[in-house]
Amino acid sequence: MTTNLSLIAIDGPAASGKSTIGRLLANQLGYLFLDTGFMYRAVTLAALRAGIDVMDETAVTALAAQLTIDVTSGEGWTDGRHYTAWLNGEDVTWALRQPEVDRNVSQVSGYPGVRQDMVRRQREFGRRGRVVMVGRDIGTVVIPDAPLKLYIIATPEERARRRWQDRQAQGYTNNYDAILADVQRRDTIDGTRTHSPMRPAADAIVIDTTGRTIEEVVAEILAIVHDVTYTL
Ligand code: DC
Repeated sequence: MTTNLSLIAIDGPAASGKSTIGRLLANQLGYLFLDTGFMYRAVTLAALRAGIDVMDETAVTALAAQLTIDVTSGEGWTDGRHYTAWLNGEDVTWALRQPEVDRNVSQVSGYPGVRQDMVRRQREFGRRGRVVMVGRDIGTVVIPDAPLKLYIIATPEERARRRWQDRQAQGYTNNYDAILADVQRRDTIDGTRTHSPMRPAADAIVIDTTGRTIEEVVAEILAIVHDVTYTL
């Protein structure tokens, strides 16, 4: 893999703010924003729709290989989307956010065959350059030679509060304690799975967003981006 100077890798747990931060950063820099979690969500949605048991690793992995998954910009839409996610030619941007997908996606994203397939697709996006790629294993596995790797964290309580607010805004009925339990459950699954567990790359810059505004954090990161560009 060749060093890609125009690629920023952002990892971190669910609801740490990494997607919002990544999107704002991509806008500021004029880069593509690729939120890689959408791919695992797309596989999960496809399995649920096909009536495949998400515990059936072989069936889910075989299904993943057959899917056409793409992303385009969210520009021109007025429904608050940050990008448009496509599954077999269908716009599934909002379908990917259903609680049913949330509940099953950690299981699906733990399958090595599914991960290999998605990582290959993500590297193809990375090769185009000028990308802010957000996920769990971008700095450790997908693009380990990215010149800038960030790892965004926040306490589980703060992340649950953010998710609760998002859900309210989307009109779902909501229970904070259940969301906190789900955040903690997913941290455990994502952080302890044998294949590519979620962790910061050795050379990642760790940024804690607890109690800070997104604007503050983005300003801090832009300063880092300029430093990295300068010293390369
Ligand atoms: O960021 P998200 O909530 O959309 O991620 C959905 C799931 O996919 C979550 O269980 C973590 C997993 N994921 C992953 O394993 N690797 C990535 N690069 C991105 C997401």
